[in-house]
Amino acid sequence: MRDIHSFARPDEAVVKHLALDLSVDFTRHQLSGSATLQIEHRGARELVLDSNGLSVGGVTLDDGTCAKFSLGESQPYLGRALTIAIAPQTKSVKIDYQTSPDAAAVQWLDPQQTAGTKHPFLFTQSQAILARTWVPCQDTPGVRMTYEATVRVPRGLVAVMSAENPTEPNADGVYRFRMPQPIPSYLLALAVGDLAFRRLGRNSGVYAEKPVVEAAAWELADTQRMIDAAEELYGPYRWGEYDVLVLPPSFPFGGMENPRLTFATPTILAGDRSLVSLVAHELAHSWSGNLVTNATWNDFWLNEGFTVYFERRIMEAVFGRDYSEMLARLGLQDLEATVRELGPDSADTHLLLDLTGRDPDDAANKLAYEKGYFLLRLIEETVGRESFDAFLRDYFERHAFQSMTTRAFVDDLRKNLLSKHPGAEDRIGVGRWVEGPGIPSNVPRVQSDAFEKVEEQVRRFESGTPADQLKTAGWSTHEWIHFLRHLPAALTTTQMAQLDKAFGFSASGNSEILHEWLLQAIQHDYQPAFDALEKFLLSQGRRKFLKPLYEKLAETESGRTRAKTIYGKARPTYHAVSRGTIDGILKWR
Ligand code: BES
Ligand code: ZN
Repeated sequence: MRDIHSFARPDEAVVKHLALDLSVDFTRHQLSGSATLQIEHRGARELVLDSNGLSVGGVTLDDGTCAKFSLGESQPYLGRALTIAIAPQTKSVKIDYQTSPDAAAVQWLDPQQTAGTKHPFLFTQSQAILARTWVPCQDTPGVRMTYEATVRVPRGLVAVMSAENPTEPNADGVYRFRMPQPIPSYLLALAVGDLAFRRLGRNSGVYAEKPVVEAAAWELADTQRMIDAAEELYGPYRWGEYDVLVLPPSFPFGGMENPRLTFATPTILAGDRSLVSLVAHELAHSWSGNLVTNATWNDFWLNEGFTVYFERRIMEAVFGRDYSEMLARLGLQDLEATVRELGPDSADTHLLLDLTGRDPDDAANKLAYEKGYFLLRLIEETVGRESFDAFLRDYFERHAFQSMTTRAFVDDLRKNLLSKHPGAEDRIGVGRWVEGPGIPSNVPRVQSDAFEKVEEQVRRFESGTPADQLKTAGWSTHEWIHFLRHLPAALTTTQMAQLDKAFGFSASGNSEILHEWLLQAIQHDYQPAFDALEKFLLSQGRRKFLKPLYEKLAETESGRTRAKTIYGKARPTYHAVSRGTIDGILKWR
């Protein structure tokens, strides 16, 4: 099976192990050193790798001879094939190389962009096809390798990877890593900074810059309970340690499930532990994604849909059904909005995607997450939870450390689950969910009494009750989000001011609440919130927040002008992934 997003030909010669030796140069914004790849083949004459922006100095075979190699033509977002001539007996190749200062996976932060403001910081983001911008590899989720690494950093700084990690800085700045379980390339990750570690539980802990680490440890205190709940649900955690690295605010995602070390945005540090479902999500990927992996980016929903399902089961186990049902209701709202945006008949609303000719990053919307979630929930509700859980436990066990196509999953589901439940197949209509558009009419119902109470308060506000007399006592972050999403379509400046005064939205330290409020502020041209808007856009780089805000601004002439002024200042602080998206929205350059 071919992966359209990789030049590699793993059916001819496949990488089994990677040994990296890299020096981190904060002055030149470069990683340089070597990657030694152990390979398996049956006498193949060529090894084909992916690369993007790498300068290759030379390639040596295991017999010590220099190998002939060539770099193919550069293609947009795919980069260049690196083809290495090998001998029938070749078992490994060593590639001497360095990265480009604008390697898309790597963000180099100046000290001012960190919490400590004294030391530089570096982190990588390899998913979906950015690993090739910092490591020559077969950059497809269909290939797995074990790895080891030696990383040389300025003395005093700590390096961590998606591997076994140090918990203290060492004297010489040379760190050695080992990842003994085979992983796909998109899970290769590195971060370097003035990091500290706090243990959270038996096999869990948190890394962050020193000024942030106490707050991070407090916020993530429930991590061990989540790990325990996850194992109870779907079997043993296979990676030993589970830590979270809380990054500086320019990290472009909420979280990234790098094995043994989830990378996370600091925007989850709300001060009340209300945004920790993100940890449940990244932790769940330790099964769905990292253990059983989407074979290609067309099968992305196998990673994300399963993970959202698993995330909500963890949240239910730890915090109760009312809590997880609020998350599911917000998820359904996201799904409806995404389908509206993509168009209800669009092929991009199928679970199984066709990304031919496109950057897989284009598929990074909520469709795979939430449509995938609701399909799995529908299966659960059709066959019963006990049966479905038994199937899932067994599925993760049988396919551990393998890649899965959508077709292989559907066959497995029919054979091992649906065939035992007469009529289930027809009631679910898996085919329609997977290869059909929109939201099928048998989508499960989500019942949230808490949200109904919120809607009642919205109605009271609409019919004239002043904001400060609404019954909002004890509302959680999720109730506030629901409230803000359901405010009346027409709001006067006076009403906006009344809401802001009563609930202090513009000054909210909760990123999710502030984000929903700022969308309303742009929508209703509520000028008093625009300072807060600018501050938010300048102080963090999470694409999920940036994209809707810049899009909403770009809807009007004056908004677009404002957006461009802010973006001019913010752009140099954003990661390439976020820059790419916002450049597109504002037609920058
Ligand atoms: N693996 C994804 C992040 C990702 C997806 C990176 C596609 C590159 C391409 C991660 O697990 C994720 O889904 N993160 C979400 C948070 C989650 C709670 C929905 C995010 O970053 O918003
Ligand atoms: Zn995810």
